[in-house]
Amino acid sequence: MPAALFTPPRERVWLEIGFGGGEHLARQAAANPEVGLIGVEPYLDGAARLLREIETDGLDNLRLFVDDARLLLDRLPLASLQRIFVLFADPWPKKRHWKRRIINAATTARFADLLADGGELRVATDDPGYRRWILAHLLAERRLDWQVSGPEDWRTRPADWPPTRYEEKALAAGRRPVFLRFLRRPRAEKLASAGI
Ligand SMILES: C[S@@+](CC[C@H](N)C(=O)[O-])C[C@H]1O[C@@H](n2cnc3c(N)ncnc32)[C@H](O)[C@@H]1O
Repeated sequence: MPAALFTPPRERVWLEIGFGGGEHLARQAAANPEVGLIGVEPYLDGAARLLREIETDGLDNLRLFVDDARLLLDRLPLASLQRIFVLFADPWPKKRHWKRRIINAATTARFADLLADGGELRVATDDPGYRRWILAHLLAERRLDWQVSGPEDWRTRPADWPPTRYEEKALAAGRRPVFLRFLRRPRAEKLASAGI
């Protein structure tokens, strides 16, 4: 179990995919010392930058996987994560590149497999085309429940969600990001509704 990656073991584990420079991940690790965080990023400069911060700030609840997130998603146990973050993932706007998008039908199903009951998926993007694509995929996954009752729920970044470098770039360029939160529906609910 990923909880055992940490010393002492952490009961709750969060995963960030494509952490870039690691600003969000480092701030979450510092603010939540009781949680174990796994960061995934194939870009070496970002990982090196974050390693320096881990050392300087003495963060003992962060583990890094410096490779493609899909390799790790395939290996993590079911229901082993309490949160997954995918923040400003590459939008791959050209149609011939859509197959490279990290949010797709297969990864969406895998997020639902890996999240524990009540666990949370947080996604941000500043690209309108990718936003439509993300919502279409996540809303089609019945095990995930979008936490929304009005525009403020996706226009405003929650206070416990630190900003990233790409969010700052987007705002500086006049693009408006969206912040999406989905909760993993409890597995028992499904069994109860099935009458088993
Ligand atoms: C646009 S940047 C956003 C970085 C950061 N999340 C932010 O908001 O500042 C997207 C990041 O995702 C990483 N990435 C792309 N494909 C990935 C994959 N298959 N697995 C993990 N990370 C990936 C890239 O290297 C890049 O750092």
